[in-house]
This record gives sequence, C-alpha cells and structure tokens, in this order.
Amino acid sequence: MSELNAALEHSTYNYKVVRQFAIMTVVWGIVGMLVGVLIAAQLAFPILNFDLPWTSFGRLRPLHTNAVIFAFGGSALFATSYYVVQRTTQARLISDKLAAFTFWGWQAVIVLAAVTLPLGMTSSKEYAELEWPIDLLIAVVWVSYAIVFFGTIAKRKVSHIYVANWFFGGFILTVAVLHIINSAAIPVGLTKSYSAYSGTVDAMVQWWYGHNAVGFFLTAGFLGMMYYFVPKQAERPVYSYRLSIVHFWALVAVYIWAGPHHLHYTALPDWAQSLGMVMSIILLAPSWGGMINGMMTLSGAWHKLRTDPILRFMVVSLSFYGMSTFEGPMMSIKTVNALSHYTDWTIGHVHSGALGWVAMISIGCIYHLIPVLFGKERMYSTALINTHFWMSTIGTVLYIASMWVNGILQGLMWRAYNDDGTLTYTFVESVAASYPGYLVRLAGGAIFFGGMLIMAYNVYMTTRKDVAAQPLPAGAAQGSHA
Ligand code: HEM
Ligand code: HEM
Repeated sequence: MSELNAALEHSTYNYKVVRQFAIMTVVWGIVGMLVGVLIAAQLAFPILNFDLPWTSFGRLRPLHTNAVIFAFGGSALFATSYYVVQRTTQARLISDKLAAFTFWGWQAVIVLAAVTLPLGMTSSKEYAELEWPIDLLIAVVWVSYAIVFFGTIAKRKVSHIYVANWFFGGFILTVAVLHIINSAAIPVGLTKSYSAYSGTVDAMVQWWYGHNAVGFFLTAGFLGMMYYFVPKQAERPVYSYRLSIVHFWALVAVYIWAGPHHLHYTALPDWAQSLGMVMSIILLAPSWGGMINGMMTLSGAWHKLRTDPILRFMVVSLSFYGMSTFEGPMMSIKTVNALSHYTDWTIGHVHSGALGWVAMISIGCIYHLIPVLFGKERMYSTALINTHFWMSTIGTVLYIASMWVNGILQGLMWRAYNDDGTLTYTFVESVAASYPGYLVRLAGGAIFFGGMLIMAYNVYMTTRKDVAAQPLPAGAAQGSHA
C-alpha cells in the first residue's frame, strides 16, 4: 500500500488520507449493511438470534446504526471534506500527521464499537451508545479533525470560502458540541457510566443531540458533498449561489430547535413539544430550498442523466432528500405523530433518508472520487455502476414502501377499539400482520446490499494498476473527472 501511495501522491494535495477514507467507506458500507440485512432477517425469522446474547437483535441493532452512520457515513464525510477543502482552497491539508491520526483514530473508534456493542457495553443513549473511554477518544479525534479542516481553511490560497466548506464546517463544529455535551457522564468502572443528566432533562439533552445528529451528521455534511460534487458531475455551476447561503443559515438556525419532536406526549413540557413541532414544520422550507438548488443545478444538463449513472445516483439521492424532509415535518405534527410513533413508519422515514439520501449521495461521490484518487480516467465499469444504481433505487423503494404499509397498519390496529371500549386487536395480531412487510424489507435491504458488493468489485478493478477501464457502453458517460 505504501508503494502505491508513493506512486499516487499528488504534488500539491494530500490525497492519501482521502483515498484511505474513500476505500473504508465502501468497506464499512458493506459491513454495516450486512448487519442491517441480518437484523432485518431476525425481525422476520427470530431463530436467527441464535439464542446467544452477542448475536441478539438488541445488541446488533446499535451495531448496525453505529456502523452505517459513523463508520460508513463518517468515512464518506471525512473523505469528501478533506478532498473538497483542499480543492476549493487550493491548499494542502494543514498537517499530514494530524490527518493520518484522524484516519487511524476513527478506525480505532469503529473497531472498539464493533467489539463493545455485541458484548453489551452501552450507555443506552441512542446513537451515543459507546462507553466513556471511547467517547473520550471520539472527542480527541473530532477536535483533531476540526483543527485539520479549519486550519486548512485558514491557510487557503483563495479569499473566498466556497459554500460546501460552510456546510462541512457547520457539521464539524456542531457535532463536536453535541457529542461533548450529550456524552457527559459519571463513570462507575471502565465499561459503565451514568449520564450526568437525569429524568426529563436527560431525555431532552439526548434528543437535542439525536435530532441534530440527523441534522448535522446525516444532513449538513452530505449537503456539503452535494454542493461540490453535483456541480462537478453535471459540469454546471450551482444554480443559485445566493440561495445556497440562505440555505445554510436557515438550516443551521432552525434545525437546532426541532429535537423535541422525538418526545411528543412525554413528560417534556407541552410548550417545548409544540416549539419542536413548529420548528420542524418551518424546516421544510430550507430543506426544500437546498434540494431545489441541487436539482436546478442540472438545468441545461438534464440529458446527462440518460448517460451518466453517477449523476443519476446524485439526483435520485436529492429526490429522497426532498421526500424525507417532507415526511419528517409531517410526522412532527403531534396528531400525525400519535399514529406514527413506535411504528415502522419511523423506520421507513429513517431509511428513506439513510438509504435514499445519505447512502446514495455518498455512493455517487465515491464513484466520482475513486478514478481521481487512483489516477484513472474513469471507473472500471460504467455498466456495473448502472446496475448498482438500479439495485439501490429498487432496494430503497421496497424498504420504505413496506415500512409505510406496516407503520400505518400497526398505528391503526393499535388504536382500533370496539363499541364496548375494548381493543379490537391484540398486540401480537399486529405483529403477525407486519410479517409480509418484514419479508419485503428484507428483500429490499438484500438488494441494496448486493449493489454494495458490485461497487466493491468495481472499485477494486479500478484501483488495479494492470487493468484498463472497460469500453463505455453505447451512449454511456461518466462525466468529467478533472
Ligand atoms: C442494506 C441496508 C439496510 C438494512 C437492511 C437496514 C435495516 C435496518 C433494520 C432492520 C433496522 C431496525 C428496525 C427496527 O428496529 O424495527 C434498522 C435501523 C436503523 N438503520 Fe438501517 N438498514 C440499512 C441501511 C442503513 C443505512 C445506510 C443507514 C444510515 C446511513 C441506516 C440507519 C439506520 C438507523 C438510524 C436505524 C434506527 C432507526 C430508529 O431507531 O428509528 N440503515 N436498519
Ligand atoms: C425537515 C427534516 C426532518 C424532520 C422535520 C424530521 C422529523 C422526524 C420525526 C418527527 C421523527 C419521528 C420522531 C418519533 O416519532 O420518535 C423522525 C425520526 C427520525 N428521522 Fe427524521 N426528519 C427530517 C429529516 C430526516 C432525514 C433527512 C434523516 C436521515 C438522513 C432523518 C432521520 C431520522 C431518524 C434516524 C429518526 C429516528 C430517530 C429515532 O427514534 O431513533 N430525518 N424525524
């Protein structure tokens, strides 16, 4: 690998760390989604829990969420932000050593998560399950990341700071604050701690963190990707630069207030729930402003969608972004949430954002990056990118449609009652009715996962020195990789 890195080293930029994170995006995508397929199978066939604590759904579910969000999504964010900040500031990362530390430190966090979660070590806070020693390591790696990113901005060779960097910067800064505040805990041993907060305050801090993990980790950073890679791939300037700035400030100003929509009908004061609901509804506007800005960047380049599967990944991801940010505000309305909460509707919403938006935009960007990073003109096989595109799209649609059906079915069955006031259905009847949906979700997830294996093969073939790209199929293109 070191020989390869030496041969590929760029004269100005640090591409080594970008390459490492880009490859690990594919690796962790496969691992995290494989665990996703396994837990989807467990919900349909409980025997797959194998009657062992380490392989039980309760322990593997957080392993899945940590692997896909922080390992897969995180690696994609590190790779793209390090690439974009260098290209748009025309400056090398401020420190190669510190950048290398963020790579190895982040991989260490992931491996520690993969060991401790199946062992049952958990703080029990969703998306912040890792115990305090790992939290400390995360804080150190993240602060180093901030130093590398903002340090590079500080030594930039152009005066303007391109909008993608605003989104990446907002994401890095906010995640640091969220992580440090939410993880405050009192340790009672190396593997156990208790939150520094209690009762309703604990719940509110947790969902302030949880919702902004969505808003900044799963959204703002990926919008940074959108603002750089969509114009690059479409070979068109951003539709409206002014809108992109309004988008940024509106998004960061509103997102931070929306957390209480996770705590409707709880002990949280009613005014706070209503505030969260109103802010969530307002959030539709900046979200759609950004989505439209991305889509309209294709003005005059729509025909490229017919030939370029990478661009297709990006545009379809924007459609799913639009869909999930329409659905989210609807679900935050208290009366709608009374039906959707606790049901598979939430799971459908999560994956329309996670598979449709986060995974598909990342996949598109990695396909754009790999040839650049490995000194190739294009990916090995355009036909395989196209196959992957269809598998991801079909997989996502099967996943979310089955969860919508299940969610509404469950919500309606739980609230149905007879004339004498007794419940019409027992809980287990709603579980039995959900079974076909679980099978369809499993099929959708497996198809999406299969696409990732195809990607791994295509990436591997592209990185091989001795293999040339296959001829482009008639009429196909992969955009420009300059
Ligand atoms: C092959 C792809 C995937 C499959 C089959 C899959 C499957 C699952 C399953 C079965 C659950 C548990 C649902 C439940 O408790 O009822 C789940 C939860 C979750 N997954 Fe995935 N997943 C996949 C990809 C992803 C990706 C790429 C992301 C993020 C980028 C993601 C984020 C999440 C999150 C955040 C949850 C927790 C949702 C909640 O608590 O409401 N998943 N997934
Ligand atoms: C305007 C944007 C959005 C709003 C207002 C919003 C709103 C909501 C609401 C109301 C819930 C259900 C809360 C509950 O009943 O417990 C929810 C859950 C969730 N949403 Fe969104 N959403 C938005 C966008 C997104 C996007 C783009 C993603 C992913 C990339 C996402 C990921 C999630 C996750 C992971 C959960 C489950 C949290 C949990 O309970 O574990 N959301 N969202």
